Amino acid sequence: MINVFQPSLGEEELARIREVFASNWLGKGRLTEEFETGFAAHLGVPRQGVLSTNCCSEGLFASMHLFGIGPGDEVILPTVSFVGAGNAVCASGAKLVLCDVDPRTLNLTAQDLEEKITPRTKAVMPLHYGGVPCDMDAILETARKHGLAVIEDSACSVASTYKGRACGTLGDMGMWSFDAMKILVCGDGAMLYFRDPALRERAEKWLYFGLESKSGFSNSVDQKWWEYDVSSFGHRAIMNDVTAAMALEQLKKLPGFLARRRVVSETYSRLLGDLSWLETPPALPENCTSSYYFYHIQVKDPLRDQLAQYLRERGVYTTFRYFPLHRVQHYGIQDCFPKADWAADHTLCLPIHQALTEEEVDRVAALVRAFGETHRLN
Ligand SMILES: Cc1ncc(COP(=O)(O)O)c(C=O)c1O
Repeated sequence: MINVFQPSLGEEELARIREVFASNWLGKGRLTEEFETGFAAHLGVPRQGVLSTNCCSEGLFASMHLFGIGPGDEVILPTVSFVGAGNAVCASGAKLVLCDVDPRTLNLTAQDLEEKITPRTKAVMPLHYGGVPCDMDAILETARKHGLAVIEDSACSVASTYKGRACGTLGDMGMWSFDAMKILVCGDGAMLYFRDPALRERAEKWLYFGLESKSGFSNSVDQKWWEYDVSSFGHRAIMNDVTAAMALEQLKKLPGFLARRRVVSETYSRLLGDLSWLETPPALPENCTSSYYFYHIQVKDPLRDQLAQYLRERGVYTTFRYFPLHRVQHYGIQDCFPKADWAADHTLCLPIHQALTEEEVDRVAALVRAFGETHRLN
């Protein structure tokens, strides 16, 4: 089976993990700090702006607490969002407000955002779909005009940039995922970015029980190092040196991963771009770079599901991300989202990862073309 996503891990990651075993310290320590420093440099932001955590979903949930969002507040998400974002808003007691998306990029637009803003709106959570940046100038301007916090879900945008700045560092808070299906992987792990250093400080405490003092050796200057206080009923959501060891090696390999993904993406567009029955992804916006996390085609005829089935039967796994939140019944959203509905019914994410060989890319494209011929779509 040709996987839709796949990590690339090797001896380098294993060797680094071996070092961790030898050090006898598996928890959050020197390597986690080294990864935070390295990732901040990769983003081009000060070291003090970033903080690691155990997964990006935790970042989504933490954002609600950190921005003081709760009952009576509203938070706007593009309906094509990750389920963790929807759950984070609802779990906080705030009202989940969804907006439509651009039907081709599946990204939030300032216009769709503006339509849903009320005096109760506290925050917006843009998602850079598949690693392609949203039009952040327009979104930030709208958000500033209405005093909204901007929380960027950059889970899939590990190396995406907008006008020379890293996606995830454009708003008030951003986050990147390193889970098993991402580009830079470490099993589970994530990085958070905070524009305001005071917020980062609060986040650090929130993600470790709200502890006011450090425990153990790092607190040994005190007379009684086992005593402590908490400033909030915080979580325990930290990275550790085992996952950081992997992440550090993956960070070194990231430029190579991106170069390969770009070739895969461009090859698909070259091999499929002439087909009149489907759309390849729109050109990247000017002054932007992508992480090439998704490669999505849009089937004009209502045959998307049949195409997915056809490919699966022939050893090619595809998917659609993200099932719109307004179709998740438990959220109980009644509004209409015509552009997102069109996208949800016509979009298919083809396999894209750095381990895909040229033969595999050719095979996927040839099967897509063959499907069109079988259905006389050309
Ligand atoms: C857009 C988006 N946001 C957030 C997450 C959550 O990331 P994690 O798995 O690290 O919790 C994911 C994971 O798939 C995602 O795709």
